[in-house]
Amino acid sequence: MGPRWSEDELVIGEYNDAIHAEVLDDLQVGEHGYKYRILDGLVVPPYVTPSRYRLSRSIETRPGDLCYVSYPKSGSTWLSYVVVLMVHGGEQPEARTLRSCLHWVESSWTYPRSKSDLDALPSPRIFKSHMPYRMALGGDPAKTPCRYIYIARNPKDVAVSYYFFERDKSWSGHYSGSWEHWLQIFLDGKVQRGDWFEHVLSWWRNSSAKNILFLKYEDLVRDSSTSVLARIAKHLGFDLSEAVLESIKQKVAFDEMRQNEFSNMHEIVEFDGFFRKGKIGSWKDQFTPAQSDMFDRVYAERMKGSGLEFDFE
Ligand code: A3P
Repeated sequence: MGPRWSEDELVIGEYNDAIHAEVLDDLQVGEHGYKYRILDGLVVPPYVTPSRYRLSRSIETRPGDLCYVSYPKSGSTWLSYVVVLMVHGGEQPEARTLRSCLHWVESSWTYPRSKSDLDALPSPRIFKSHMPYRMALGGDPAKTPCRYIYIARNPKDVAVSYYFFERDKSWSGHYSGSWEHWLQIFLDGKVQRGDWFEHVLSWWRNSSAKNILFLKYEDLVRDSSTSVLARIAKHLGFDLSEAVLESIKQKVAFDEMRQNEFSNMHEIVEFDGFFRKGKIGSWKDQFTPAQSDMFDRVYAERMKGSGLEFDFE
């Protein structure tokens, strides 16, 4: 039996607490209307419900399963298209949307799948998650047969991209704070998905496991050849020719993805500005020099000794 979600389900309206939050008692509203709940100590969006989270943790992944993971706004949609194309030998699949090829188990909104839907799916199943390592889909990633890819991006660009993504959106309670306020709650780990440093470093510290590939958005942007794509293909166990990798590279280019109805998320009503800039260093249009200095100090302190570095421009 195949998956049971209908084509109608693929058109996504506004997030709605009554429909998507499941448990309303523990929903919290922070300053400027910012909505969230806390699961296992992590700030998460209201549509990450306790039961979806339990399902995500309890999935028994099988060999061939793939899971891409990130902190929000780190290039995960881009990576998802790369993975979907690789699974299909470099060709866009028959499905109507990229989302319908992916399984975001922790979310009750935009990708709902039941346990029996998930069990019935043929391999390879492609899972999406925005969880830190300790809350990963499928249990302790290093002990599972699933292949994980974590994509991370420099946190100044993440903070800016995330601000525009959350501003006045239904799932964020129509957050109305200023950039300055956002930057503060971002650094305090009070935004949905919590503290960027903890999230990224949790995967970084576990990235020597052979089924985990740690990627950086900036490396993908900078790759003038197809070497990063080749690393991804190798990690996922796909033997793809240089010509196929080259065709994938062209299909996932920012402007191509933005124009392609399959990949541009047009079916989600509030995702108009999703393909915003797609650059390294657009934080410079947003941070004041004082904010940048302050951020650099926090960054130096929090990343000290991690061995992980990012390009900010
Ligand atoms: P900006 O807001 O800086 O433009 P995610 O998919 O994890 O939510 O990340 C979204 C960010 O990735 C956005 O960043 C978006 O523009 C960027 N992005 C999406 N597709 C991209 C692509 N094909 N190439 C480069 N950046 C892309």
